[in-house]
Amino acid sequence: MKERLVVALDRSSRDEILALANALHGAAGMLKIGLQAYVANGPSIVRALVDRGEKVFLDLKFHDIPNTASHAVAEARKLGASIVNVHASGGAAMMRACRDAMPRGEGLLLGVTILTSLGDDDLAAVGYRDDSEASVLRLARLAQDAGLDGVVASPREIAAIRKACGSDFIIMTPGIRGAADESDDQKRTMSASAAVATGANYVVVGRPITEASDPHAAAAAVWG
Ligand code: C5P
Repeated sequence: MKERLVVALDRSSRDEILALANALHGAAGMLKIGLQAYVANGPSIVRALVDRGEKVFLDLKFHDIPNTASHAVAEARKLGASIVNVHASGGAAMMRACRDAMPRGEGLLLGVTILTSLGDDDLAAVGYRDDSEASVLRLARLAQDAGLDGVVASPREIAAIRKACGSDFIIMTPGIRGAADESDDQKRTMSASAAVATGANYVVVGRPITEASDPHAAAAAVWG
């Protein structure tokens, strides 16, 4: 199961990120570099992890015109990222251009559907006609039709996406917490094992592992 675990290294300090990577070596399938770590350290933090033999999910959620977004994806691929993501709401043409920049088999390209921080009222305010579940499914289908490998989605959407998009579509889910964990600011959580049983291919876990006194043991305990 550990191949399914993606650990979010949400830190600004390069030393802390590399220390966590060392501590976690062999305990997780992939390490996630998001906006905080990337803006603080630049592309060299991705290269440093890839050079250590780690697989990196570069979680920068690109959303721009097709030309700009696809060139960013091409650069992420050159850095050696194993997974890159874009906002599905950037549209079919943007996603297709990004797919061309990271051909199938050379790395996974995932779509972000609806940010879980947005409620139905927020969606209405930015012009979405449907509620969050219907919007997520619409964007997941759009991502699939544009050739993306899968989507990032909250635990409560896994089952519906799996049903709508079939068994080959990748579903990655954050919001993972065990019974003993603090929920932090995550509202709708699920255990890692339950998320996989519901249909997730990858689970993203951050603070329950990165803030543990023994991150390696905490990574193993995620499945407990
Ligand atoms: O610390 P925690 O386990 O909550 O970290 C989860 C990671 O997944 C963070 O990097 C967070 O930005 C990311 N994420 C999330 N919810 C989403 C999308 C991404 O928690 N809907």
